Amino acid sequence: MCGIVGYVGPRQAPAIILQGLKRLEYRGYDSAGIAALEENGRFAIRRDAGKLSNLETLLQSSPLEGHAGIGHTRWATHGKPNQRNAHPHLSMNGRVVIVHNGIVENFLELREELEAEGVTFASDTDTEVIVQMVERYIESGLEMETAVRQTLKQLRGANAVVIMGLDRPNELFCARLGNAGGIALGLGDNEMFLASDIPAILEHTRRMIFLENRQMAHLTPTSYRIMDLDGQTIPPDIHTIAWDPVSAAKGEFKHFMQKEIFEQPRSIVDTLRGRVDFENGRVHLPEMNLTPELAQRINKLYITACGTSFYSGLAGKFMIENLARIPTEVTYASEFRYYDPIIDEDTAVLAITQSGETADTLAASEQAKAEGATLWSIVNAFGSQSMRISHGYIPMQAGPEIGVASTKAFTTSLVDQYLLACALSDLRGTISRRKLRQLVDDLAQLPDLAGRVLDHDAEYEELANQFFKVHNFLYLGRGINYPIAREGALKLKEISYIHAEGYPAGEMKHGPIALIDETMPVIAIATKDHLYEKMISQIQQAKARGGTVIAVATEGDAAIANEADHVIYVPEAPPLLAPIINVIPLQLFSYHVAVRRGADVDQPRNLAKSVTVE
Ligand code: G6P
Repeated sequence: MCGIVGYVGPRQAPAIILQGLKRLEYRGYDSAGIAALEENGRFAIRRDAGKLSNLETLLQSSPLEGHAGIGHTRWATHGKPNQRNAHPHLSMNGRVVIVHNGIVENFLELREELEAEGVTFASDTDTEVIVQMVERYIESGLEMETAVRQTLKQLRGANAVVIMGLDRPNELFCARLGNAGGIALGLGDNEMFLASDIPAILEHTRRMIFLENRQMAHLTPTSYRIMDLDGQTIPPDIHTIAWDPVSAAKGEFKHFMQKEIFEQPRSIVDTLRGRVDFENGRVHLPEMNLTPELAQRINKLYITACGTSFYSGLAGKFMIENLARIPTEVTYASEFRYYDPIIDEDTAVLAITQSGETADTLAASEQAKAEGATLWSIVNAFGSQSMRISHGYIPMQAGPEIGVASTKAFTTSLVDQYLLACALSDLRGTISRRKLRQLVDDLAQLPDLAGRVLDHDAEYEELANQFFKVHNFLYLGRGINYPIAREGALKLKEISYIHAEGYPAGEMKHGPIALIDETMPVIAIATKDHLYEKMISQIQQAKARGGTVIAVATEGDAAIANEADHVIYVPEAPPLLAPIINVIPLQLFSYHVAVRRGADVDQPRNLAKSVTVE
């Protein structure tokens, strides 16, 4: 959700913070602001509604200086996304300033208490109660650190905060309560950084500490201390981040989404590297902590996730059931808790999450773990909560994904599930050595196949030019390509605001067929597999109702051109890997449609990259 950046050190904090916020804007773009401690010993704040560019313009006309500061990009929960509600928020007497991510569930109660004591509020946010409480405690004689701890203990809900106070100039306090998004502390030389996500500060340091639930930190330019809410020091766990800062920048591409689509061959290579032993035909997933005993004992798997990661799980189910023969159910993480899943010690729950901090996915994971399941995760953000709470995990290796619409994390997580299916089937003995070797060999061609799809980008753009004015789309697929139809439809909805439905093709006759007419094009994934003939018959049904059909078909399939109005050809891929290839033209088609419609591709309206509220 919201993005947070903080800095203390010899350099000008506002410039560093603004730069960091640019890298985090995908987390929220309703408003943005920065606070710094100025030379005169007072806090100065610049903030504005709308995108970060508004704040940047404001800073040009009204510059801000200081060696300690905090900044924020907001995805509004409480209070309209206007200037008054933009962070940072200052306390009534100007002694404390805060940025916040999350929801203070008991804020009404706390606000009433403060108002009864004479505190006046300057915003409609839940955040402001925190900063007013800290100031009240300081004014009642508590030392700053104690005041912060006292306040934090009274907050309900999941919250991440960064606080500065005049009593401790050039110092930062931050805390993480629950799953409101992480806080990464960046350790520099005589300077300290913090941010809600690694890319914001990666250009300054790779040495990072991730705050755990109910931990706080105190930073000065030359020191840091991690503690619990009682002030007990906690030994730090310092990670060195391998991501390269350049990969978190847009480079020659117009949009992050476009760049990330084109990075897919590379992210697939990175996913295979070190895990696939092509020589011996085996897969190694060291962080999964799999043993033959565990792999054989698991008799049920739930895959739980949200959004694009959920569709990845729907396709992963085919891989795991087909190869490892474990009955697999795929559930929306937001529903998982509410239907009482049947879990015992022989159940595994696999959470798929790019950010590793989606609140619903974390809640489902925690519940599964508490009920005795083995918790696995496939997660991109290194050091994220999802990774930390899992018994075993696969780090995705997609690299930073900034575009709000997920692309490379989707294909990477599909590859990861394929690897997991191979590793599990090897340990469970559900496939022969020969078959495993074949499955591993098939992976070798995957990056090249993905690259070949990208080579046809101009054709997808041309198609987008023809269809960008349409109001509705229907996407159809069967078998393992049914989730790809849903993901294709989601991509179009998310960034171009065109209504699109993804449907299992066989279900078309039970409802969606009623929608088909000449104004509603159908995208049918009809690559060569055992369901090809059935897809052709569905294409014919759509054509018979006057629909315009765009088919995604296998190179060399000349016959399909007689059935469909337009054909997107993709190279032939082994059946379980085909979804990874078939989704790429759909990603690019959505991208070009959105660009033609003048939509904001990387920051679609109302969406956020990491959803850290329930
Ligand atoms: C948000 C994003 C989606 C993403 C979903 C799940 O809705 O906009 O792109 O698929 O969250 O995110 P996760 O980080 O858990 O994969």
